[in-house]
Amino acid sequence: MTAGSSQRNAAVVLLIFHLYLYGSYQLTELQVCHLCNRTVQNSTALGQFCSASAGLVDGCCCLLRKENTSNADYVIGLDLSNCSLSHVEDLQEASTAAMIDISLNPIVQLNNSLFQGFIQLDNLILPVNLTCPGGNASWNKMEVKGDTRHCEGQKDICNQTGHLSLNCPENSFCAAYGPGFFECSCVDNFHGYKCLREVSEYTTSSMYDYCQDNGFNFILNNISNL
Ligand SMILES: *[C@@H]1O[C@H](CO)[C@@H](O)[C@H](O)[C@H]1NC(C)=O
Ligand SMILES: *[C@@H]1O[C@H](CO)[C@@H](O)[C@H](O)[C@H]1NC(C)=O
Ligand SMILES: *[C@@H]1O[C@H](CO)[C@@H](O)[C@H](O)[C@H]1NC(C)=O
Ligand SMILES: *[C@@H]1O[C@H](CO)[C@@H](O)[C@H](O)[C@H]1NC(C)=O
Ligand SMILES: *[C@@H]1O[C@H](CO)[C@@H](O)[C@H](O)[C@H]1NC(C)=O
Ligand SMILES: *[C@@H]1O[C@H](CO)[C@@H](O)[C@H](O)[C@H]1NC(C)=O
Ligand SMILES: *[C@@H]1O[C@H](CO)[C@@H](O)[C@H](O)[C@H]1NC(C)=O
Ligand SMILES: *[C@@H]1O[C@H](CO)[C@@H](O)[C@H](O)[C@H]1NC(C)=O
Ligand SMILES: *[C@@H]1O[C@H](CO)[C@@H](O)[C@H](O)[C@H]1NC(C)=O
Repeated sequence: MTAGSSQRNAAVVLLIFHLYLYGSYQLTELQVCHLCNRTVQNSTALGQFCSASAGLVDGCCCLLRKENTSNADYVIGLDLSNCSLSHVEDLQEASTAAMIDISLNPIVQLNNSLFQGFIQLDNLILPVNLTCPGGNASWNKMEVKGDTRHCEGQKDICNQTGHLSLNCPENSFCAAYGPGFFECSCVDNFHGYKCLREVSEYTTSSMYDYCQDNGFNFILNNISNL
């Protein structure tokens, strides 16, 4: 073997090594995908949903790749069913999910804000003894199948007539914020407590940005308090 070809071989090995590292880095970034020591099974509803959506399986997640940005996959499905989990604390990494299954686990209670901000969630499968977050104001269909409870078709809380009075203060509008929640988002130029502060010509843009960045431009509401 000549010196030239062994250098070339080393370069190829190095390239493969890099590809391997790069590839595996991309698929282990999200901790939520490894809450369950298992991969999404093709035979489950979530597996079917994932292949129908052309998603990638990473552990217990189904991911879609954002266009134009490498290393920025987002979760569209999460399968934590039958995983011996007694509590689930933080699923924020999966807040873009359309389907989540946490059924068949010995979970007795869920944190009230667990699904806060999950506006895309359309199919939630829970252990039968837990209730659908937000109740019938948040879901089109809630049904029990054996040991599982299915919460299907998330409703837009802001688009409902009836007993719920979603009173957003003046200078703000209602925006859905996941099952059981909505936000009153201040309209342009208003911010602060109850969206009462108007940005005046005396407000510098850095003060305005400060208020925006600190979340003072909306009011988070919980429908169980209405
Ligand atoms: C996951 O499963 C593998 C083998 O199936 C095992 O070696 C590993 O310890 C498990 N990890 C956890 C966190 O249970
Ligand atoms: C999973 O099922 C879909 C159709 O339901 C099929 O197209 C796909 O090849 C299957 N994937 C695997 C890994 O078996
Ligand atoms: C991705 O990049 C292409 C051109 O490079 C651009 O036309 C397209 O709008 C971009 N897509 C997104 C989602 O930014
Ligand atoms: C749950 O997992 C256990 C093994 O950990 C398996 O024996 C059982 O069949 C699974 N149940 C369902 C409904 O998938
Ligand atoms: C519920 O979740 C929120 C946000 O993830 C956290 O701040 C809060 O401490 C949790 N509450 C409980 C009782 O665990
Ligand atoms: C929503 O309101 C109910 C009833 O007041 C309360 O028990 C629950 O903790 C609240 N949830 C959040 C996330 O604030
Ligand atoms: C649900 O709760 C009932 C009583 O509240 C209990 O008998 C039953 O075993 C529970 N089911 C599961 C799957 O934990
Ligand atoms: C929702 O549930 C409440 C009480 O649980 C009930 O009064 C109301 O009629 C239900 N609304 C719908 C649309 O089913
Ligand atoms: C609001 O609700 C009506 C009837 O329930 C529906 O036709 C309409 O598409 C909804 N609009 C939005 C933005 O969800």
